[in-house]
Amino acid sequence: MRLKDRVAIVTGAASGIGKATAITFAREGASVMCADVNAEGAEAVARTIADTGGDAASVSVDVASEDDIQNMVAETVKRWGKLDVIYNNAGIALGNPVTQVLEEDWDRLIDINLKGVFLGCKHAIPEMMKSGGGAIVSTASVAGLMGSPYLSTYSASKGGVVLLTKALAVEWARFNIRVNCVCPGVIQTPILDPWIQSTAAAGAAPEEVWEQMGKGHPIGRVGQPEEVAKVVTFLASDDASFVTGVAMPVDGGLTAGSIPRGPFGEDL
Ligand SMILES: NC(=O)c1ccc[n+]([C@@H]2O[C@H](COP(=O)([O-])OP(=O)(O)OC[C@H]3O[C@@H](n4cnc5c(N)ncnc54)[C@H](O)[C@@H]3O)[C@@H](O)[C@H]2O)c1
Repeated sequence: MRLKDRVAIVTGAASGIGKATAITFAREGASVMCADVNAEGAEAVARTIADTGGDAASVSVDVASEDDIQNMVAETVKRWGKLDVIYNNAGIALGNPVTQVLEEDWDRLIDINLKGVFLGCKHAIPEMMKSGGGAIVSTASVAGLMGSPYLSTYSASKGGVVLLTKALAVEWARFNIRVNCVCPGVIQTPILDPWIQSTAAAGAAPEEVWEQMGKGHPIGRVGQPEEVAKVVTFLASDDASFVTGVAMPVDGGLTAGSIPRGPFGEDL
């Protein structure tokens, strides 16, 4: 078991990548605090873990609130006596031309996707210091590594997570705290439901939309949350003991280069 006797917090644990990671962490031996603004969803995931023999609890948190983050860390330490791992994963998406982005939408997205990661790190690090070190993993995105139309707000937040990760990796390495992030490509989770629904309203079946999005990845399909969870688990574990400051794509080759085409632009 790669996380035996470790205590971990997962934010955004009620759904998608966070849910898959909370379950994987527990399967690898960690005690897991499932944290989410969707308190019922987080509780359900903690119950699922407990029902299958794992150790988990849940806490309601809005990652944009410093009080909530402090409470989340305090509840975790109160229950298990220490904190070894935090996975800052909670996030929201927004797809709009920049001319249509409302100031309040910009502020809310940056508060959750970027400030939420800052607050998680700020309050987890002092607890990790007490037990001699720890591992921080955050969820950035391929949108934090390259630009895409309509994703300017989201890209700004995720690009911020990538550089925050690198800065903190350098700042805390000598205290045995590793700081890394993952950069997923398109992963089949509810975060994309509004987009799937709007495309479906235009006549395409959801499966066709997922299939079409998959074609943008050299591997030829979208990813599943469990495929991100396994990489996060690696980065959180001692298997990654000499890995810090990386922004690891989990993207089916999306950021590796363009999809190979024949000499006339045809599919190969
Ligand atoms: N699915 C993708 O294609 C994809 C790609 C790249 C990056 N990501 C990132 O992965 C992370 C997880 O997203 P997902 O795809 O699993 O989506 P998801 O919608 O399934 O899960 C996101 C979770 O975050 C929670 N959340 C939202 N706002 C919160 C807040 N203020 N405080 C606490 N919890 C909050 C939601 O309740 C939800 O449970 C996000 O940071 C997202 O930006 C997703």
